[in-house]
Amino acid sequence: MQLPSDTLSRPLRDLRISVTDRCNFRCRYCMPAEIFGADYQYLPKPEILTLEEIATLAKVFCSLGVEKLRLTGGEPLLRRGLSDLITMLGDISGVKDIAMTTNGTALARNANYLKKAGLHRVTISLDALAPDIFSQMNGVGASPERVIDGIDAALEHDLGVKINAVIQKGVNEDQVLPLADFARERGITLRFIEFMDTGNTNRWKHEQVVPSANILENLREKYTLSQVKNGISGETASRYVYEDLLGVEVGFISSVSQPFCRSCNRARLSADGQIFTCLFAEKGHDLKAQLRSGASVEELTARVASIWSVRDDRYSEVRADGGDRKKPEMSYIGG
Ligand code: GTP
Ligand code: 5AD
Ligand code: SF4
Ligand code: SF4
Repeated sequence: MQLPSDTLSRPLRDLRISVTDRCNFRCRYCMPAEIFGADYQYLPKPEILTLEEIATLAKVFCSLGVEKLRLTGGEPLLRRGLSDLITMLGDISGVKDIAMTTNGTALARNANYLKKAGLHRVTISLDALAPDIFSQMNGVGASPERVIDGIDAALEHDLGVKINAVIQKGVNEDQVLPLADFARERGITLRFIEFMDTGNTNRWKHEQVVPSANILENLREKYTLSQVKNGISGETASRYVYEDLLGVEVGFISSVSQPFCRSCNRARLSADGQIFTCLFAEKGHDLKAQLRSGASVEELTARVASIWSVRDDRYSEVRADGGDRKKPEMSYIGG
């Protein structure tokens, strides 16, 4: 089958698979505790794709050009059998990269199994090193030590490691340099992410966004940085290297100040089998119903190709017109 391109000539290369909509953290920018409380209605178990169903759909996507798979959540390590899924995904022809985005709290005890199952890389969220700030941001009073142990376990087991930090004005701006120093000490790539208006519950305000340019300026007070040309098309981050520590990178994911929709080659599969062609898409396309009604792999492939070929999403570029759009929550759609 010919590989599909969308209406802006963007290929399909990256599939982000949410394996659960649950998380043990309540980061305010993602799952504010007052909304995601005890009575929040998570997806009922029968609605959640089985590991085999996920692998079948991943295979469909890979036959259409997907080379990168990323497991997300919620918190993906809350899903049972994740190592088995990773092994199944590794057997799919065309897969070059299997990564996972995690909050790191369960990584110390799982890094070993994940590596053995065939996971290549982990991206760990760490927004602060100061215990009080970290505790306030994760919404459950967790301390950074457990996450740091997870990072060190991932390094020890030879997983590729990146750190993601969302910086919010008035919340954790003073953590920029400590986080940079922490990542430099370990030789890890750190990416600063601009606070985004995902979902409808995080009370996003433009004034709370710290533009990447300000963070770069802050880092340059201490370090000399030079920009690296983006190698792979579709990258989310603009990348820099430290001149005194060549090989160690710091990146900026500037979806608000410098949208990167033009090269966006990412599709997202929710835990209940909906395909979203944008992080901010108002609705998904239900692949689960088709899969469970006995559709063949060929029929599913034709459906995904036709969904992708009419795709015209570029929300971050037209954000100002977003208005009252009903957007999926990040914990549901995957990071
Ligand atoms: P690499 O494969 O290591 O380059 O990682 P990645 O940048 O594809 O994935 P990661 O999950 O680390 O993405 C980092 C963050 O960037 C996510 O958590 C989101 O906050 C943001 N992000 C990722 N993809 C998109 C996207 O398509 N649109 C927007 N607006 N933000 C995105
Ligand atoms: N803005 C920016 N990044 C976000 N993430 C979650 N919510 C937001 C938001 N509103 C990121 C987290 C984590 C990943 C799962 O998604 O920092 O790295
Ligand atoms: Fe959980 Fe990640 Fe969302 Fe934080 S950002 S609440 S760790 S899914
Ligand atoms: Fe892709 Fe949508 Fe993000 Fe733009 S806003 S980069 S189209 S997911």
